[in-house]
Amino acid sequence: MKVSPSVISCRLEILREQILESVDAGADSFHIDIMDGNFVPNITVGADFVRAIRRVTDINLEAHMMILDPGKYWESFAESGADLLYFHYETPFEFDTVHKKVKEMGKQIGMVINPDTPVDVLKNFLARLDMVLIMSVYPGFSGQKFIESTPEKVRKLRAIIDEIAPHVGIEVDGGVTDITGKLLKESGTDIIVSASYIYGGNIRERIGILKNI
Ligand code: DX5
Ligand code: ZN
Repeated sequence: MKVSPSVISCRLEILREQILESVDAGADSFHIDIMDGNFVPNITVGADFVRAIRRVTDINLEAHMMILDPGKYWESFAESGADLLYFHYETPFEFDTVHKKVKEMGKQIGMVINPDTPVDVLKNFLARLDMVLIMSVYPGFSGQKFIESTPEKVRKLRAIIDEIAPHVGIEVDGGVTDITGKLLKESGTDIIVSASYIYGGNIRERIGILKNI
């Protein structure tokens, strides 16, 4: 299982150490939760933060944009060093324009769906996506409980992807632990995001556990 730790649960005063420890423990990428206080009821970080992490490590950085106007801001995250840009299906943006520019910049593009959004909405986009991110909590905060119907949703998406766009990876975000991670693996998930589980304990040990589920 590939693991993408979310820096939202890192301790900011020792962020550099925690990032380096995570990389050393085998993190496959980093997940950066960008929240604007509008699309979700919480505010986190902007492009400067992405740039700072880029200076600490070469690992792949994912920008999970939980913002009302991703079309206006995604380029600042890409220019700051994000490798994969995650756009929420529920936010308005010009897919064709954005897709073209993301690819011109040599970056990856992913689409995120909220718990109440069905996987079928992705069908028209899959051929041009690199990744899909399924939310297993309502976005906004770390430390929430995993929504139990998620593995079923992953299974459904896996079947669609296997049939029409096998190059697309499936990532799941929210409430992932050693236990829920197992259910996700069985359902066909490629990458799991985890914040409070990893950074609420021994980082090295917990990344190791998630990678080996
Ligand atoms: C939720 C974020 C997640 C979340 C993960 O809005 O997108 O990345 O903070 O946190 P845990 O793993 O604690 O659920
Ligand atoms: Zn996230």
